[in-house]
Amino acid sequence: MEIELMMSLRDVLKRAEANKVAVGHFNFSDLVAFNAIVAAARDKELPVMVGVSEGEREFTGVCQAAALVKAIRDEYNYPIFLNADHTHSIAHAEEAAKAGFDEVIFDGSALPFDENIKQTRRAIEAIKSINPAILVEGEIGWIGASSAVIEKVPEGVGVLTTPEEARQFVDATKVDVLAPAVGNMHGMLASMVHGDVQKRLNIDRIAEIKAAAKIFMTLHGGSGTNDDDFKRAIKAGMTIVHVNTEIRIAWRRGVEAGLAAEPNEVAPYKILKPAFEAVKKVVSSRIELFSSK
Ligand code: 13P
Repeated sequence: MEIELMMSLRDVLKRAEANKVAVGHFNFSDLVAFNAIVAAARDKELPVMVGVSEGEREFTGVCQAAALVKAIRDEYNYPIFLNADHTHSIAHAEEAAKAGFDEVIFDGSALPFDENIKQTRRAIEAIKSINPAILVEGEIGWIGASSAVIEKVPEGVGVLTTPEEARQFVDATKVDVLAPAVGNMHGMLASMVHGDVQKRLNIDRIAEIKAAAKIFMTLHGGSGTNDDDFKRAIKAGMTIVHVNTEIRIAWRRGVEAGLAAEPNEVAPYKILKPAFEAVKKVVSSRIELFSSK
């Protein structure tokens, strides 16, 4: 394995940034998706981030999600990192920090810009007083909110973050990681699921924001993005890439296939095998793309 063992998330990101590759971040709600993500990462021998949104961690449990990640680190000495994805309240951010998460995304992107700065500052103070080493990500610009198959592009999506906004936000908040709006969007239109349409990114704007912000940047809303845009976005300064809807679709199709293939089966570990394989396939292909030079 090329990666050194027991590196911190910050060190893994520094190395990725220097090599102009990105670390894949994949969301999970259950053990099937979690194990599939881990299996894909271990096969490719690549560091990986796993994330649980507020909804996902309400389902998995906050400490349970942290325990799963710790188990993989302990058993395999593996560089896997846990992120509290899209956290909207300071109480939830504190809960994740106390449970040992490696990163918290405080998402004030739906708030007016000044209010987002104010609340993100408060969140950082609270989170870092629990664990000074934890990374905190802030979000600016509206890219929608749900990792789902959606009927139309949500109102307001498509307005790009400006380099000046990025500079101002980073200076005022001192976030470790920035998530800007650069043509990306959460979720997939049906046409994206069928592959007729792909998300396209503004690569020049990514480079301009990176030059202004000078910190790690995350590309949210990765599902359904054009492969070449992914590569160019990473070269231009994206060091973390989030994918969720593609995983959820693979999971659902896998569950449906498992149930259809074994109408009389009742052992979950047999029924859910195709879901595991389907999620693993998505993660394998994405993680390979993100790490290719
Ligand atoms: P997608 O569901 O569009 O891949 O977005 C995921 C995401 O950004 C989670 O933070």
